[in-house]
Amino acid sequence: MKMAVLAIIAGILGLFSGFQPLVHAADSSTGGKKVLILYYSWSGNTRELAKQIQVQIGGDLIELETVKPYPTDYNQTVDQAKKELEAKYLPPLKTRVDNLASYDLIFLGSPNWWYTLSGPVRTFLSQNNLAGKTVAPFMTHGGGGFANSINDLKAFCPNATILEGLALSGGRAKNAQNDVKRWLNTLGIASGNL
Ligand SMILES: Cc1cc2nc3c(=O)[nH]c(=O)nc-3n(C[C@H](O)[C@H](O)[C@H](O)COP(=O)(O)O)c2cc1C
Repeated sequence: MKMAVLAIIAGILGLFSGFQPLVHAADSSTGGKKVLILYYSWSGNTRELAKQIQVQIGGDLIELETVKPYPTDYNQTVDQAKKELEAKYLPPLKTRVDNLASYDLIFLGSPNWWYTLSGPVRTFLSQNNLAGKTVAPFMTHGGGGFANSINDLKAFCPNATILEGLALSGGRAKNAQNDVKRWLNTLGIASGNL
């Protein structure tokens, strides 16, 4: 009897050992194109979106971190970000993306900060040359959408191909699977066709 149970378990394990998930969450080279999902997130909304993109198409997920973290207080962060933007200050990054050259498609995510890209994302764009890359921008916001972000992104990397972006209200980020799916479909991007 015991042997029979063991045999059944072994059979089930055998079945599942050949099981391949439809989405390769950690596979950064799906079908040949190497995908990077790079983002900054202060309060987690943009991170949620970034993770959902990874679940749907795979790719490497990298969160940008600043050397000096922003305050944990919202109003202080809002004030600091405004001053930094006005002074054209670029907050130094702790995160380095050393193998950027190996990526073809970069999903670039940011919260909307003062009608544009957050400081950490602006730092990244000012320090890295994205010429020849395809960039798919995504953003979470408090009602303002992309505002100036896409124009500013184009100014940072004039020789990149900028795809249509996804801007979602921060409150929707946790349950954005369908929005992400529709967006990826619009772009003609799916895990199987990269
Ligand atoms: C410094 C700062 C500036 C912001 N400026 C704007 C803005 O100009 N327009 C807007 O719609 N939302 C603005 N927001 C709201 C954020 O874009 C929104 O909460 C976003 O979802 C936060 O993303 P995160 O959780 O990834 O940090 C701002 C938030 C912060 C902290």
